[in-house]
Amino acid sequence: MGIPELDIDLWSDDVLADPYPTYARLRELGAVLYSPRWDAYIVPRYDEVRRVLQDWETFSSAQGVGLNDRANGMAGRGILTTDPPLHDTRRRVLNTQLVPREVARHHEFLADEAVRLVTMLVDRGSFDAVADLAHPYSVQVVSDLCGLPIEGREHLIHRASAAFDTFGPDNDRCRGAWEGFRELYDYATYFATPERLTPGRWGAEIYEAAVDGVVEPDACPGLVLAYVWAGMDTTVNAISAAVSLFADHPDQWAMLRSDRSLMTSAVNEVLRIQPPVQRFTRSVTREVRLAAEVLPEGARVAVLFGSANRDERRFVEPDRFDITRNPTDHLSFGRGVHRCVGAGLAQEEMKAVLDALADRVERFDAVDRSWRCNNALHGLEQLTVSVA
Ligand code: HEM
Repeated sequence: MGIPELDIDLWSDDVLADPYPTYARLRELGAVLYSPRWDAYIVPRYDEVRRVLQDWETFSSAQGVGLNDRANGMAGRGILTTDPPLHDTRRRVLNTQLVPREVARHHEFLADEAVRLVTMLVDRGSFDAVADLAHPYSVQVVSDLCGLPIEGREHLIHRASAAFDTFGPDNDRCRGAWEGFRELYDYATYFATPERLTPGRWGAEIYEAAVDGVVEPDACPGLVLAYVWAGMDTTVNAISAAVSLFADHPDQWAMLRSDRSLMTSAVNEVLRIQPPVQRFTRSVTREVRLAAEVLPEGARVAVLFGSANRDERRFVEPDRFDITRNPTDHLSFGRGVHRCVGAGLAQEEMKAVLDALADRVERFDAVDRSWRCNNALHGLEQLTVSVA
């Protein structure tokens, strides 16, 4: 029969704005599909996505995780686009900063910032859950923990979002994003430098690791950028998606408010049903069988995190938002050696904001909502809510 070929463009505006109906069709079509338009294999089901993520030797990140030659040609600068053993030495530096014990040390800071911001917004009666809440919270928290200079913080999300767009195929959105990507790199090279980073914080510690010979000096800007690029826009999407889901499901919000022991489960369910990162790619290092298909060496494989999390083979009624299901097996943080190093911090941020909201808000009403298109992410552009 051969591998089913896709006649739709997965990176078109229509699909990016609401990818889930398309994902359902892809899962129906097969475990491995082929997109002639972008010369890439597409993996929409849970088991195969997990398999690809877990086997870094066959499905390598070292030739990039994007879908165009320009982005993939820059692989190796940070951590995301490396394979072991280089990956492991760089990862060790970030791991020491983000292990649960370290994240726990920041619990009070995360909670205080959330209470301060949420109290102010709730007093206003209505606010934009993206621009007024998720965006300022995530940027401030990660910037402070990283010790980034104040100057330039206001541009970080816009530039990080552009950087994620460069992971797509060579479409208009990708081409329009290179300028933002360059600005982000310039920020890491000229602004977030050792002289300007706050001593004792994550950014400065990365440069110290280079002085100690743990990582190469050349890798430092890329590692500081890993925090800015991967650690802000993603959490903005997660926090605003949570507010959106609870606005649409007041019964689930009431349940969480009355039983905070459901918080971890609720956060996992938000991440499962609305994954901030939707798709990355790998390159195939040897001919390999995936499900019933044989992929040639050198092929590009796009894994669809957002589709895997809605796979009916894995999750019962996957489109239903249910904060009691605690889906700890969701793939929103990836799997294997590249599993999100900031997962613990992201979850703590989400919990801090939801806790502060649960103490003060009985009900959200979504007044206005729009989604934005991004080649790699999925999230809200704007979500105006009025609160009771
Ligand atoms: C809800 C928020 C977040 C989501 C959904 C998310 C998602 C992901 C995913 C899917 C990957 C794996 C990529 C791959 O397999 O190629 C990843 C890697 C990564 N994430 Fe996150 N992330 C989030 C928050 C954060 C935060 C808060 C930080 C840091 C402050 C962070 C830093 C990183 C880094 C440095 C990597 C690369 C890890 C490696 O290559 O070993 N992320 N993230």
